[in-house]
Amino acid sequence: MINVIISGAPGSGKGTQSDLIVKNFRLKHLSTGDMLRNEIAAGTELGKQVEKLVSGGLFVPDSIMIDIIANAIQKVDNSYNGLILDGFPRTVEQAQALETILEQQGKKITVFLDIHVDEAELIERLLKRGQIYGRTDDNLETIKERLKAYSSKTQPISDFYKKKNNYYQIEGNGTIEEIYGKIEDIITACNL
Ligand code: AP5
Ligand code: MG
Repeated sequence: MINVIISGAPGSGKGTQSDLIVKNFRLKHLSTGDMLRNEIAAGTELGKQVEKLVSGGLFVPDSIMIDIIANAIQKVDNSYNGLILDGFPRTVEQAQALETILEQQGKKITVFLDIHVDEAELIERLLKRGQIYGRTDDNLETIKERLKAYSSKTQPISDFYKKKNNYYQIEGNGTIEEIYGKIEDIITACNL
């Protein structure tokens, strides 16, 4: 069983690298951002509740996110070799709740991947994606909010995982293939 957390600032490549990881390691990709965008697109009650927060680059309350991820983890069937969590946990409170959720299911985190990319590169990538795909939070003002939320609330979770000895920092400037190569080596080594 391989259970990966992929973390990093907005635009650091969590989704892009997750797509490659799931193919090669047969993991279930759980992206909380994708889940929220699907709820918004489908016009559900939850979608309506979170729409303004997501399009403003603000975090959805921990209690809502913890329920969403607990349900999603429970639904993963045995045909997968494990999970990759993309965009969760994003606060220390979420990290602590995740420990309990996994423990209850006899699971634990194999590796925490922390992708580091320069801020100028992050902004360039997200503005470019905004022009192509029109994600409502890919505009300069909201990108700045997202970066602020990341550094104040998400970066502190690195210390939580550093204490557990399964923390790996990855230099995320470079080509998608170069970065994936480093990630593949880490996951393979952790799974031996
Ligand atoms: P989420 O969807 O998780 O967004 P994010 O963290 O802002 O990150 P992105 O998805 O924008 O970037 P990414 O790191 O996945 O990079 P990607 O691979 O796409 O969350 C959205 C919102 O939902 C949050 O702001 C919040 O409101 C809410 N939310 C979600 N989870 C939550 C939680 N747990 N708690 C509270 N609120 C929550 O790459 C970006 C772009 O760069 C792409 O166009 C890609 O093609 C390109 N790219 C990737 N790698 C490279 C490379 N090496 N070189 C050049 N270009 C590259
Ligand atoms: Mg993403």
